[in-house]
Amino acid sequence: MLSRGENNGHIQGQNDDQNWESLLRPSGFDDYIGQDSMKKSLRIILDAANQRGESIDHLLFYGQAGLGKTTIAHIVAKEMGGNLKVTSGPAIEKTGDLAAILTNLESGDILFIDEIHRLNRMIEEVLYPAMESRSLNIILGKGPSARTISLDLPPFTLIAATTRVNLISGPLRSRFGATFRLDYYTIADISEIIRRSARILGVDIETGAIDMLSHASRFTPRTANRLLKRARDLAQVSGIPAINTSSLGDLFNILEIDKAGLEYQDRRLLRILSDHFAGGPAGINSLSAALGEEKGVIEDVYEPFLMKMGLIKRTSSGRMLTPEAVDYLNAEDKNK
Ligand SMILES: Nc1ncnc2c1ncn2[C@@H]1O[C@H](COP(=O)(O)OP(=O)(O)OP(=O)(O)O)[C@@H](O)[C@H]1O
Ligand SMILES: [Mg+2]
Repeated sequence: MLSRGENNGHIQGQNDDQNWESLLRPSGFDDYIGQDSMKKSLRIILDAANQRGESIDHLLFYGQAGLGKTTIAHIVAKEMGGNLKVTSGPAIEKTGDLAAILTNLESGDILFIDEIHRLNRMIEEVLYPAMESRSLNIILGKGPSARTISLDLPPFTLIAATTRVNLISGPLRSRFGATFRLDYYTIADISEIIRRSARILGVDIETGAIDMLSHASRFTPRTANRLLKRARDLAQVSGIPAINTSSLGDLFNILEIDKAGLEYQDRRLLRILSDHFAGGPAGINSLSAALGEEKGVIEDVYEPFLMKMGLIKRTSSGRMLTPEAVDYLNAEDKNK
């Protein structure tokens, strides 16, 4: 899930990796498509802090994988003109790791912690005073002779991202000056993202194909870019000058996705709910066992999309198929 900041415990500067994801990553507000109300709020926060000559408030971004959390964090850092230091929850294993990161910050730096929900409680507690009053409390020694020293930290901004906001403790959440939820994109925004990416990759794509691709992109920029890249590869090896609906049809067959972007595992989940649980309700544990997929993956990856598509719903007694899902499965049976 991580795209940057996976660095085996070491903090990393703003060196761009050379993969295509960073090539396609928007570098300013202007090419960050969609999420308009978030962008508007961020502009106000940035402009106000600039006018006062202060660091901006700590910011938290949450939402599904691939919706642009890391991207917006980089854009905010760039707008602030500060140095961006990147790390992630799993990379900070001990309180000492975080203390080292914090003591190395310089005035105006931005610290980006990806997957912040994976910080353990003890480390979170080091973060509270650092966020609140820019102080770092270090306990020296053990037992009765232990004492706490407090170090002042320079003004810095913490930007954090997570796909699991419900796992972040209340005290930590409350220390962010602003929290933003990134939502699924509209088809129109996804189309624009595909047009922009096609331009950058120098690939021709017919209008109908842009439309078809945007409907299969799970309302997610990363998925749109991935599919576009696969479509480009296929067009190239098939010797066609531009991606068209027919070459996309071939690609979807190869990838086993349908025109609404449902993948093999999505369809299996619907099938299992239908065949093993008579349409539900099914508890997440039974579903996870039947599907052979981790609970967290079902909750984070499959369910949000299937709910957005109106194919399943969550009730207090478990997951259920909707009438639309029953229609979907019937139509699939007919096409077999
Ligand atoms: N608003 C946007 N406009 C254009 N492209 C975008 C936008 N948001 C994301 N992208 C594209 O999607 C890719 C994935 O975005 P990003 O890495 O920021 O997602 P993320 O939310 O951090 O995902 P994860 O939870 O997996 O870390 C980026 O490389 C970028 O090219
Ligand atoms: Mg990210």
